[in-house]
Amino acid sequence: MFTSALVALAMGQAAPGPSVQEPSQAPDDAVAGAYVSRCSGCHTIGGGPLKGPDLAASTQWPRASLRLAVAKMDKNTGPMTDAEVDAFTDLLLAPDVRPRLEAARAAAAKNLQASLEPPSEATGEELFSGRLGLSGGGPSCAACHRVAGSGGALGPDLTHLAGKMDEVAMVSAFQGANFPIMRAAYAGRAITPQEAVHLAAYVRGAKGKDSDRGSHAVFAAGAALGLVGFFGLAALLRPHRRTGATPYASTAGARR
Ligand code: HEC
Ligand code: HEC
Repeated sequence: MFTSALVALAMGQAAPGPSVQEPSQAPDDAVAGAYVSRCSGCHTIGGGPLKGPDLAASTQWPRASLRLAVAKMDKNTGPMTDAEVDAFTDLLLAPDVRPRLEAARAAAAKNLQASLEPPSEATGEELFSGRLGLSGGGPSCAACHRVAGSGGALGPDLTHLAGKMDEVAMVSAFQGANFPIMRAAYAGRAITPQEAVHLAAYVRGAKGKDSDRGSHAVFAAGAALGLVGFFGLAALLRPHRRTGATPYASTAGARR
């Protein structure tokens, strides 16, 4: 249930990729839901590259090569069991992978809409800037990210994000499960689905208001290392999926 909350709202905006067809999977497609929360922050299938390559080509790979590539993703998602690697591999190879992922997104969006307040751009801005504290006690996004000209430069400028990530992917990425440095910063202090939804509304709204759109803050590797040290290398390296506060913990659990 938390898994689908993580996965988040589509709120009237279609995800990139093909249009939804008759989904052929069972109503509770756990692996598709897990993919949406753990992988879709970095990959589309046919919607262009994000942090990782578009996986459209990979869906045509021989199973053995694909499985190897998926197994390597534990560096991004945290540890995966062999069964999880198999399940993600088979999902990507399934002829109906796109409609299944589309359905998983839609189901998650519905759950969120039922349980959360509607997204507020204003609240999102306050959370982003740090004027309103995150409930988990983690650092504000602006400590490391710029949107429309203000904020830190350790992480990439997020102004452009709405152009390349749909809502679901954004919320998944925002919850910090995907990026090692953010995982360290938010370990044990995960932002809530509600906060992620507000933040996504803010970032989406900021697109187009930016004066220096397209400029990307330089990723400062030295500073990044310093910060990792600050938040604790141990936190970064420790497997997180068993800590209840980690967004994908329940995902992993659900499939065991
Ligand atoms: C933090 C971002 C990130 C996350 C999360 C992530 N990946 Fe990746 N993925 C990448 C990057 C970057 C590459 C490029 C090759 C590399 O780094 O190994 C990649 C490569 C791949 C490839 C090979 C594609 C190619 O064309 O080379 C597959 C398949 C893949 N990922 C599947 C997955 C699956 C399945 C998940 C979820 C369990 C996942 N990824 C989660 C970033 C990510
Ligand atoms: C401690 C610094 C830090 C904080 C705080 C932080 N981030 Fe990040 N974030 C990073 C870094 C560094 C990267 C780049 C990781 C990479 O390239 O692998 C990143 C990547 C991202 C990405 C992927 C960007 C892309 O172009 O693919 C998103 C989205 C994101 N962060 C959103 C957020 C949000 C929303 C918050 C606040 C809840 C936040 N971050 C807080 C450091 C941070």
